[in-house]
Amino acid sequence: MSPACDMAVSVGGIDLTNPVLAASGTFGYGQEYSPYLEPGAIGGLVTKGVSLKPRQGNPPPRIVETACGMLNAIGLANVGLAEFLAHKLPWLAAQPGAVVVNLYGESIDEFAELARRLGAQPGVDALELNVSCPNVKEGGMAFGCHPGAVGEVTAAAVAEAQGKPVWVKLTPNVSDPVPMALAAAQAGARAVSLINTLLAMAIDARTRRPVLANVVGGLSGPAIKPVGLRMVWQVAKALAQSHPTVDVVGLGGIMSGADAAEYMIAGARAVQVGTASFTDPGAAGRIAAELADYCAEQGLSRAEELVGSLRI
Ligand SMILES: Cc1cc2nc3c(=O)[nH]c(=O)nc-3n(C[C@H](O)[C@H](O)[C@H](O)COP(=O)(O)O)c2cc1C
Repeated sequence: MSPACDMAVSVGGIDLTNPVLAASGTFGYGQEYSPYLEPGAIGGLVTKGVSLKPRQGNPPPRIVETACGMLNAIGLANVGLAEFLAHKLPWLAAQPGAVVVNLYGESIDEFAELARRLGAQPGVDALELNVSCPNVKEGGMAFGCHPGAVGEVTAAAVAEAQGKPVWVKLTPNVSDPVPMALAAAQAGARAVSLINTLLAMAIDARTRRPVLANVVGGLSGPAIKPVGLRMVWQVAKALAQSHPTVDVVGLGGIMSGADAAEYMIAGARAVQVGTASFTDPGAAGRIAAELADYCAEQGLSRAEELVGSLRI
């Protein structure tokens, strides 16, 4: 048997026991998945996006399966900040593993207020700004496609976050994600997470109607992994040159430990598991275990040795 590898990583201003996090919107607020994971099996989780007020989201149908993935147009349905603080965070904060709160505002002021109120919570380890949701009209992807807006919203959140690390979740719906990543880094982000879902649609040929009530939605799952790898690689290379202390968190289509390793080889210091949790609620824990086996088989003493180790 290969000797065990140290799986701990420091990423975006926090320490994780292993590099695998559950991705926002695919793991609820953690408690829903607790029957399926050993405590401490993953490095932590990113919550469903929290907004100031509760949101119903878009009307159904709002998910549909596609070849090698799925579309969703949830529209950021969530319990809202007050309910999150009163009933979701206390449970989460008592669990092993990092708590990264994904948040969403319709304006820069709303992002700043969420950062201030969440940053004040001892149970919150880091904030992840969702500037990349394709399924909402205000904010979301509208911010994430313009470097100036990404910089402004990041700077506003960093100023209010009371020292809590701010991560920025980037959209793949741009031809080049590097200017967005650089704008976030310049404005004080400690990490960028990429990718969010790809804008897409499904049509029912029989009825000639869109399958999703929202008409368009976001594509996730194995179909998007090659896009995610390419973008993580591009962004990690650019950040290494200009902002070497700003980390990349990679996601998009991770289904196995090997997929997670690929993202780390491309330059991610940690990864997130999203859609995989819908086909197997224990996927994130399994992927963390597979990644540890892979690292041991590779003869690594620390998982961090994988980061950016692509041989070209
Ligand atoms: C149903 C669903 C809901 C999501 N909700 C959020 C969200 O609230 N905030 C966010 O930043 N990303 C959200 N995402 C995007 C995922 O966190 C992730 O970036 C994307 O699905 C790609 O990873 P995957 O292929 O592993 O699922 C959501 C994805 C899905 C499928």
